Amino acid sequence: MSEIVEKIKIVRLEEDTPISSFDCGDIDLNDFLFNDAKNYLKVMLAITYLVKIDDEIAAYFCLSYDALNRTAILTEEEKALWNKVGRKIPNSKRRKTYPSVKIGRLAVAKKYAGYGIGRRIIDTVTMMYLYEQHHAACRFITVDAYRTAFPFYEKAQFRYLTTKDTDEDTRAMYFDLKAIPA
Ligand SMILES: CC(C)(COP(=O)(O)OP(=O)(O)OC[C@H]1O[C@@H](n2cnc3c(N)ncnc32)[C@H](O)[C@@H]1OP(=O)(O)O)[C@@H](O)C(=O)NCCC(=O)NCCS
Repeated sequence: MSEIVEKIKIVRLEEDTPISSFDCGDIDLNDFLFNDAKNYLKVMLAITYLVKIDDEIAAYFCLSYDALNRTAILTEEEKALWNKVGRKIPNSKRRKTYPSVKIGRLAVAKKYAGYGIGRRIIDTVTMMYLYEQHHAACRFITVDAYRTAFPFYEKAQFRYLTTKDTDEDTRAMYFDLKAIPA
């Protein structure tokens, strides 16, 4: 683990949290933090977490509940993929949707890219939903990953949900929390 990762503190964004400078190199992701994150909190659509190093924002990510849905899966190849997911769930408990939490946005400041902060965020979300007590169950982590971030999520053991979005700029990916050995 890098010294940088050891320094981070993760704090929940509140409506009165000051937002200092932040630049991850992506205009939309920067803009969300400055202009939308507090509105999403207010209307209960996403909770944003700031990853801080002292007073600096080194990264942020957003979480919302989601449903991993198999109704949109049409091709044989996609059905096979879905069955792979379902195989880990007993027959009698299989559903059309499974409870999930979505990483709506995840961005690391350019200055801190490559130090393991992104991976630490994924591990943190995994730990939150595996070990902390929640009022509702959650089986999967989902993300609509940017093309440039596919290798990052692949390394964190995320899988592609469907082949329908193969040529898109973002692809639906999921991580099965039950894939972590107990
Ligand atoms: C993609 C991003 C989140 C990665 O965060 P990071 O803190 O730089 O990543 P980490 O240092 O934790 O990397 C973890 C692993 O993924 C790899 N990785 C990270 N980004 C990668 C990329 N773009 N391409 C290939 N591999 C990548 C690292 O090499 C590392 O591999 P290792 O475990 O073998 O050493 C970050 O670069 C970022 O915010 N980019 C701009 C915004 C963005 O694309 N967000 C994703 C939206 S879905």
